Amino acid sequence: GGGYDFVVVANRLAVDRLTYQDGSTGWRRSPGGLVTALAPIMAESDGAWVGWHGAADETLEPFDHEGMHLVPVPLSALEVEEYYEGFSNGTLWPLYHDVIARPEFHRHWYEAYRRVNQRFAEATAATAAKGAVVWVQDYQLQLVPAMLREMRPDVRIGFFNHIPFPPSGLFSQLPWRQAVLRGLLGADLIGFQRESDARNFQRAVRSRLGLYIRSDQVYVVSEPSSDELGSSIAGHGEDPARGLGTRRTSAPEDGGHRISEARAFPISIDTERIVALSERPDIIARSQQIRRELGEPSTVLLGVDRLDYTKGIRHRMKALEELLAEKAVSPEDVCLVQVASPSREGVESYRLLREEIEATVGRINGEYDTMAHTAIRYLHHSYPVEEMVALYLAADVLLVTALRDGMNLVAKEYVAARRDGGGVLVLSEFTGAADQLKQALLVNPHDVDELKASILQAVHMDEEESRRRMRTLRRQVTSNNVQRWAQDFLNRLEELS
Ligand code: G6P
Repeated sequence: GGGYDFVVVANRLAVDRLTYQDGSTGWRRSPGGLVTALAPIMAESDGAWVGWHGAADETLEPFDHEGMHLVPVPLSALEVEEYYEGFSNGTLWPLYHDVIARPEFHRHWYEAYRRVNQRFAEATAATAAKGAVVWVQDYQLQLVPAMLREMRPDVRIGFFNHIPFPPSGLFSQLPWRQAVLRGLLGADLIGFQRESDARNFQRAVRSRLGLYIRSDQVYVVSEPSSDELGSSIAGHGEDPARGLGTRRTSAPEDGGHRISEARAFPISIDTERIVALSERPDIIARSQQIRRELGEPSTVLLGVDRLDYTKGIRHRMKALEELLAEKAVSPEDVCLVQVASPSREGVESYRLLREEIEATVGRINGEYDTMAHTAIRYLHHSYPVEEMVALYLAADVLLVTALRDGMNLVAKEYVAARRDGGGVLVLSEFTGAADQLKQALLVNPHDVDELKASILQAVHMDEEESRRRMRTLRRQVTSNNVQRWAQDFLNRLEELS
């Protein structure tokens, strides 16, 4: 092993590469909440981060950056295609998001996933000090916990799934379902966004592996070997009498078991940072400038999403289009600003979605724009957090209409940014955030009429009601930040061992 007491393992490294004017390159800490939450813990505790640096066919030596030790894991161009675009985002992502797009099952994709997970596990084993705490992140790395445990039985292993865990009827479609469950059960603590995700996982473990579960704890009867992780590649890993599949209807009484705990830890945002930005005079001025640039509509609706088919972007556009057609709203009064940040453009379903969204925006604007006003201001970019907070402050209504979303941090950021007490949140009930942000206008985005009614309700809501709702929402988001989320998870992991 290596010398690091706390190791985070994620598909993406905690830094982004920068290219300067003169063509030279450097690194900058990634702006996301996860990195923000974990960086201070890393600095205090001799931490390392293992992850892919984002380029194909490039091997980099480990390096240090702003108090973090970074261990880049290389991927070949074919592995980017098969492990990242393929199995992670063409199989698992749609399967775990209610099959909104059709998942594809390809044995060579799974084979690449297994090989890359093994490489992540090996890099981690070489980085972690004796008795280290290792925290593996997300669906791209579900086999890593068991692989790592086999190499390093001395380390404590946590896993957090940032996306939903599907109901067992859907999860059962996965030809490698047992291998995935065994991979995850290598962790001592397995965290999910919602209670329902944790229950789905427990149900899958009970029905697919026949393991005994009591109050969130899974009695893992024997350790999987890497052979077994691979055995279902050939499609014959379904015999419950093999390996982990020993059926149990009661807790094992011999000492021959280990306990894994699976439960919910809803993630949050770096609330203080967003609040601080929302108070900066230049950002407030920018928010006013944005409204002027939009032609001072009385209501600014905002959508902020990665351009992903799980986000329900088409659904909200359809609702708006009907409201425009019925003259319930007009482009002089209401403008939708839709930020759709580029995402996973190597995956066909994402390319098709982009074409569809852009055709829809063109159609709606072609029909309803005037010389002075646009119905939809569509922006296929990602923006720095300062600009995002200015947009949050400029928006009267945030529309989060995801068809399925593990959490949705945009909803929480919007609430955090509205220290002024303004703003209305329309929030899909199919997001993890809906479990906590109950004072939002909760909607079923599949129900176009309900969505239209909610948009109108938000547009016309009187100030007293919107302020009352926002106050309650803010209490939720200010008392649960991402730092607390990380601490809760790590404390529990500590308690378990
Ligand atoms: C989701 C996933 C993350 C992922 C992010 C961006 O939030 O849970 O694991 O990093 O999307 O997607 P990308 O494929 O660009 O990493």
